[in-house]
Amino acid sequence: MSDFENKVALITGTTGIALATARRLAQAGAAIIACGIDRAANSAMKAELESFEPGARVLDIDVSVADQVRDAVAAGVERFGGLDIIVNSAAVHPYGTATTTDWETWNRAMTVNVGSIYLTAHFGIPEMIKRGGGAIVNVASVQGFACQQNVAAYATTKGAIHTLTRSLALDYAASGIRVNSVSPGSIRTPILEKAARGENGSDADVEEAYRRFGAAHPLGRIGEPEEVAELIAFLCSSKAGFCTGADYKIDGGLTAGIGVK
Ligand SMILES: NC(=O)c1ccc[n+]([C@@H]2O[C@H](COP(=O)([O-])OP(=O)(O)OC[C@H]3O[C@@H](n4cnc5c(N)ncnc54)[C@H](O)[C@@H]3O)[C@@H](O)[C@H]2O)c1
Repeated sequence: MSDFENKVALITGTTGIALATARRLAQAGAAIIACGIDRAANSAMKAELESFEPGARVLDIDVSVADQVRDAVAAGVERFGGLDIIVNSAAVHPYGTATTTDWETWNRAMTVNVGSIYLTAHFGIPEMIKRGGGAIVNVASVQGFACQQNVAAYATTKGAIHTLTRSLALDYAASGIRVNSVSPGSIRTPILEKAARGENGSDADVEEAYRRFGAAHPLGRIGEPEEVAELIAFLCSSKAGFCTGADYKIDGGLTAGIGVK
């Protein structure tokens, strides 16, 4: 029997790493409830998941709104009978320093990137406890360890995700719930494409930008969403039964050195 047979997974985000993770878990037998704010991406994900999991739910929701997350968890439990896995991948990536980021943008980054993890835990953990345990994986970033310039809000949220991961791990270990985070370097997804196009959304050569980003990683390339999904799948599986409260970097060696050649 596959590791995810009879498992129910709630995933936030419907593109990039979330989509690759949904595919990976669904192909291994998990029932998926995905939550995203981008309706076009949600429809595309649903169409794809239905080819191997006819019951998959992809909900049009804003994961920073408490009632919407509560209803998403309830819908998943009603449809599939419980909840075993949460993968928090949704995020926004505003640019700005402390002086150029307005209060609304700052708060939006905090509520989407960090608040949504609190909300899926708040509403999801009681359901996981009813099943006797489960696994949560939060997608953080290398920017939670060492950050670039001009991403003050984004980088701060990623550090907060590392801390929230440890806190949840300690509080729910006795309930059989393991909580870990992954910290990717540059991964080929829509968020990185936006970074390649720059703050002003230019029509820059995206592949050339990816080569430049890749060259900064000791392995000499950017990563693929499927590589991150594989690590997430491992952390969600029973093979990772002794892993909790930790962060797992998947960054091609980016944070191993001090960046001087
Ligand atoms: N791609 C990279 O280079 C990289 C590097 C480090 C960390 N990450 C992290 O990986 C995670 C996934 O990002 P990705 O790379 O797959 O990019 P992505 O843009 O494809 O994924 C982000 C997803 O979040 C969704 N989203 C945004 N706001 C939302 C909201 N309010 N409610 C519901 N959904 C919302 C978007 O619609 C999108 O599907 C993010 O947490 C990101 O910070 C990505």
